[in-house]
Amino acid sequence: MPATSSPVRFDPARGLAVLRTPNSVYVIRVGSDGSPRHVYWGAALDTDDLAALPAAHSPADSSFEADADPDELAPQSGARFGPAGLQVRYADGTRGAQWTFTGHDIEGGKLLLRLTDRRYPLAAELVYRVRPDSDVIERWVELTHTGGDDSGPITVDRLDSASWTLPTLPDYRLTHLVGGWNSEFQLRRDRLPVAETVLTSRRGLTSHHANPWLALDDGTATEERGEVWTTALAWSGSWRVTVHRDPVGRTTWTGGFGHDGLSWTLAPGETLRTPVFAGLYTPGGFGAASRAWHTYVRGGVLPDPDRDRPVVYNSWEATGFDVDHDGQLRLAELAAGLGAELFVLDDGWFGARTSDRAGLGDWTPRPSAFPDGLRPLADEVHRLGMAFGLWVEPEMVNRDSDLYRAHPDWVVHAPSREATEQRNQLMLNFARPEVEAWAHHTLDRLVRENDVDWLKWDANRVVTEAGWPGQRDPDRLWIDHTRAVYRVMDRLRADHPRLRIEACAGGGGRVDLGILARTDQAWTSDNTDPVDRITIQHGFSQLFPAQTMATWVTDSPNVTTGRTTPLRFRFHVAAAGALGLGGDLTHWSEEELDQAAALVARYKEIRPLVQRGHQHRLSGPGGVTAVHYISEDSTEHAVLAWRPTTRFGHHSPALALPALDPTARYLDPDEGTTYSGAVLTRLGIDLALPDGDYASSLIRLRRVG
Ligand code: GLA
Repeated sequence: MPATSSPVRFDPARGLAVLRTPNSVYVIRVGSDGSPRHVYWGAALDTDDLAALPAAHSPADSSFEADADPDELAPQSGARFGPAGLQVRYADGTRGAQWTFTGHDIEGGKLLLRLTDRRYPLAAELVYRVRPDSDVIERWVELTHTGGDDSGPITVDRLDSASWTLPTLPDYRLTHLVGGWNSEFQLRRDRLPVAETVLTSRRGLTSHHANPWLALDDGTATEERGEVWTTALAWSGSWRVTVHRDPVGRTTWTGGFGHDGLSWTLAPGETLRTPVFAGLYTPGGFGAASRAWHTYVRGGVLPDPDRDRPVVYNSWEATGFDVDHDGQLRLAELAAGLGAELFVLDDGWFGARTSDRAGLGDWTPRPSAFPDGLRPLADEVHRLGMAFGLWVEPEMVNRDSDLYRAHPDWVVHAPSREATEQRNQLMLNFARPEVEAWAHHTLDRLVRENDVDWLKWDANRVVTEAGWPGQRDPDRLWIDHTRAVYRVMDRLRADHPRLRIEACAGGGGRVDLGILARTDQAWTSDNTDPVDRITIQHGFSQLFPAQTMATWVTDSPNVTTGRTTPLRFRFHVAAAGALGLGGDLTHWSEEELDQAAALVARYKEIRPLVQRGHQHRLSGPGGVTAVHYISEDSTEHAVLAWRPTTRFGHHSPALALPALDPTARYLDPDEGTTYSGAVLTRLGIDLALPDGDYASSLIRLRRVG
């Protein structure tokens, strides 16, 4: 193997490919049957030791067993009986692929392995990309029908982006995110059963219910310690990840876009490219895994990671559908007085949209609410020193709308089925080029005519009766709709360089690495109750950095839970992300407005650390939850701590800050106290939580020596 510092190497004599990241090595061997097989993924190993690794051997070797070497993407052929990531059918009914390895390419950190079927006109490229200074390995697949016009189509029943394999561990634990509307991103850690475990969304959106992220460990990893393997799919439509722990103790998982039962037709000459499935290994526990993901999202996913996310004011919880120029302007004035930097006019400004029953699709301001259109409000908002944002839900339509009356065929529907309405709306089929063109034109005009700086792009229902009349390959809408959404967002950003986009789907129903490649942040949840938010934000932070996590301080009692909480507690919980305001400020007392202005100013002091620093979760939900943010140069620190309830006789102990430097000293600039790093890392800091429920604190520290 040539000695080179390249992160990617391929030794044709041994058929061995080695990918190196700062803390890990990933090894593939092209097997004698032409299939790329998995050799190793984990802590760094010496190259010679790797080359000497023996081929895998099943302890249960017999004529009933599968091949011992796991595939990098398993086809349905040969002695393979686990979930196949590549499932194809040819015109004669034959399934699967028997590969010939036809070569490789290395370009910087990218490795491409080329495969062609020995008999059928099918070619695949397995692509791996190592990003500089990151432990993340990005993987995807391109599948091509290489036949001429006279060869029949190839049916693709499943095309995953990658299969991943763990070294053999004594036990396996699966960490993943589950939930629902208003309760997204609930973290679960479950012992992995000896079975196939499927994480999936069949909804055409990433979903509130599961997220295409997971982590695996041997059951002993903690926040600070232990080996963790974790993957995330960059896709915002339906998806599926199948984790297979087999009875002889091996665990693999395979995943990609689409869900069970869908199939796509590959015509001669056509290529299907999968989304990126990214993975990383860390020896540093779940905390290090999250920080590695955050660095990757900032360096390799987000379009504009270094720009501070503005303090937003959003009018939804204040005014609902009852919006007009004067009312919104009043809120904008109050918000500007509190230090808001962006005013977002939410739902209800267009067409006949005075409730969720009508108007969706008719994107012109309602004259009774905005007699001179939106421009006067946008100008006033700009005059107040804030950016102007607008809520849109371009993929959706109410039946009671001019758009639906003009184009009933534009909705996703099977003509022989009754269309299920959700929130009184249907979904437009963006896979139709004319619908995509209409959406782009409509949004482009809105942004241009109204000097819009920010779009909150919402999606409040999922796909049902997924028909596409007249389409030869109707299942394509599951892929092409999402791709069209991406394209419209990408074009808008390219044509309006100042424009920022917030992802939303009834809260956190579409948050993933795919949507974040063209948006700046995501509306985390419609649930703005600060107690519920602690758990939601804890789950969200596993993969996504704080700058992408939109948080609002809203009214008390909370509109969702009815819970009454102090303003300070609400602010301190929201300060853990991209802070915003969402209450009815016209009902806030002078005292509350003053307190809010001071808390916004305080947030802006720590914003660079929260939004661009490193995040250490000190303790999870339950009892006292705390997060420590550290500036990139490690000098500035902020600790946020929340204790929703208290019990008699239980004092909150001092909180250790293990990420500090024990040899340094730290100044609390607010109290004027200096601490030794050794004391703070071992004994911890007194959080000075006030007595009673809903206690919170924000402590700043500065390294002074
Ligand atoms: C969704 C969003 C909310 C709000 C409403 C408007 O539920 O998540 O923030 O924009 O739609 O209808």
